[in-house]
Amino acid sequence: MSAANAEWPHLFRSGSADAPVLLMLHGTGGDEQQISRLAAALDPTAAVLAPRGRVQENGMNRWFRRLSEGVFDTDDVARRADDLAGFLVWARDRYELGDRPMVAVGFSNGANIALALALLRPEVLARVIAFSGMHPLDGLPAGGEGTTAARVAAGDLAASALLLVNGESDPMAPLPSVQRLVTVLEQGGARVEQVLRPGGHGIAKTDVAAAVKWLA
Ligand code: MLT
Repeated sequence: MSAANAEWPHLFRSGSADAPVLLMLHGTGGDEQQISRLAAALDPTAAVLAPRGRVQENGMNRWFRRLSEGVFDTDDVARRADDLAGFLVWARDRYELGDRPMVAVGFSNGANIALALALLRPEVLARVIAFSGMHPLDGLPAGGEGTTAARVAAGDLAASALLLVNGESDPMAPLPSVQRLVTVLEQGGARVEQVLRPGGHGIAKTDVAAAVKWLA
C-alpha cells in the first residue's frame, strides 16, 4: 500500500510547525497546483497537502466516478474515500505530521470526496471546508451491516466540525441534497456551520472570507 501511496501524484509544503495542514482537494478538471493556490488566502502559514484525483473523465481529473452530473457511483465514492484515507495515513508518516490538525478544503468534486471521507472515515478526517459540495452518498438504499449506507448511518461524528459554503441556486450542488447532508452530519453529532449566499457553483470572495473566519 505504501509504495502505491508514494506514487500518488501530490504536492506538499511544510508550513509552520504550529500551523494546521490544509488538505486541498480540487474540483473536476482541476489539479493539485491549481487548488493549492487557494491555501495561501486561507492561511499562509499552513502546511499544504494536495493530492490529485485519480479518476479520469474525458481527460479531466476527478475523485470518483459518476453516472451522470450529480448522480454518483456510490460504491466508487466509498472505495475512493478509503483509498484517500490510506494516502492520508501514509502522508502523515512520510511528512512527519504527527498529530498536527488536518483540515480538508475541497471545491465541488473535491468537496464531495472530502465529505465522503468525513462521513465514512471520521477518525482520519474530522474537519472539512466544503465549497459547493453536496451529499456525496445521497439516496443510498438502506442496507445491512457492512454496507456503505450502514457505515454512514452509524458514523460517530462527535469530534467532527464542518463548514459548508453553497450558492442558493447551484444546479450542480442542489440545496435539498445539501440539507440532507446537514441532517446526516448533525445526526452523527458533528458541528456544522452553513453559509448560503446568492448565486451558483464557485468560490466567491465572501466564501473565502467565511472560511478564513471559520478556520480562526
Ligand atoms: C461531482 O461530480 O462531484 C459534482 O457534480 C460536481 C462536479 O461537477 O464535479
